[in-house]
Amino acid sequence: MNQVFLSLGPFQGITDAPFRNVFKRHFGGIDKFYTPFFTGIHKEEHDKNLQGEEIDPRYNDVETLTPQILSTDAEEILRFAKQCQQLGYKEINLNMGCPFPRVANKKRGSGLLLYPEKVEDMLDRVFGEIDIKFSVKCRLGYFNPEEIDAIIPIFNKYPLSELIIHPRIGKQLYKGEADVERFKALMPSIKAPLVYNGDIVSVESFNRISNAVQPVNQFMLGRGILANPFLAEQIKNNTAPTHDKTERLHNYVLDLYEDRLRHAGGSPKVLGRMKELWSYLMNSFEEPQVVWRKIKKLNALKEYEDAVEAIFKEIPIK
Ligand SMILES: Cc1cc2nc3c(=O)[nH]c(=O)nc-3n(C[C@H](O)[C@H](O)[C@H](O)COP(=O)(O)O)c2cc1C
Repeated sequence: MNQVFLSLGPFQGITDAPFRNVFKRHFGGIDKFYTPFFTGIHKEEHDKNLQGEEIDPRYNDVETLTPQILSTDAEEILRFAKQCQQLGYKEINLNMGCPFPRVANKKRGSGLLLYPEKVEDMLDRVFGEIDIKFSVKCRLGYFNPEEIDAIIPIFNKYPLSELIIHPRIGKQLYKGEADVERFKALMPSIKAPLVYNGDIVSVESFNRISNAVQPVNQFMLGRGILANPFLAEQIKNNTAPTHDKTERLHNYVLDLYEDRLRHAGGSPKVLGRMKELWSYLMNSFEEPQVVWRKIKKLNALKEYEDAVEAIFKEIPIK
């Protein structure tokens, strides 16, 4: 296969700026990052939602990070694009994949896939004015995987910088399997550079999926890399684990915790985000459920710190 490009999918509540920066310090293989989605971009200039570490170029690499927005309002998308451009970013991404009913019922995220005319009006207005690259992340539909058929000709009218397809439907949430065959069937009809996302959890699943969707060579990794942060390195090197995995994983988890703690001024609130990560990371260990039982109910920092030490001492990683 040609050169492979890998990105880290956005996860609201997990892959924020501290996560992305710590991840980059400890692991290789990821070429591109996305912010979890922004919403509520109200004012023309200096919106408060676009201040702070999550978007500030002092903490982010504008060359490799694409800010994402969840919106159906062309004016809001244009405000977002303009402010991101002023900060030095080269591209924004529109979220048309979020499956949660609270979002989808408002015709946002994957709910928007049911309204081709609305998509067309929105893109018409956005592309009439936007001066920065614009990409879309979407699913196959909300209720059924044929809904995207009415949307693709609309996407094809505009110079999307990329189209990331996660081949599930909104109703599935994150359950069931990604429909690689359906993705493959859509490929010839899509003009934009295509990115595949869904169920890449190992070198084996990457090889199987990437063979099936050739010549696509851009892939977004999701839960698979949260569970196994070595995954992008392993895919790029086409190898099994490195020898110092336990130590590297341990250092990563400690570094992320310390970084989050520093940002939160020592507040136990950081445990929420660390637990969320552990709900995936537990799968790096031989006994995921034992790991999860040690972590899931903790409320105090000291308990968490002790539990992490115990996990790395007692439970081997895969
Ligand atoms: C808790 C959670 C939060 C997520 N937040 C976002 C988000 O903000 N933006 C987005 O485009 N996708 C989001 N996703 C979707 C993931 O980026 C990814 O597309 C999805 O997990 C499918 O890939 P996978 O099967 O490899 O995990 C989220 C997923 C989960 C489970």
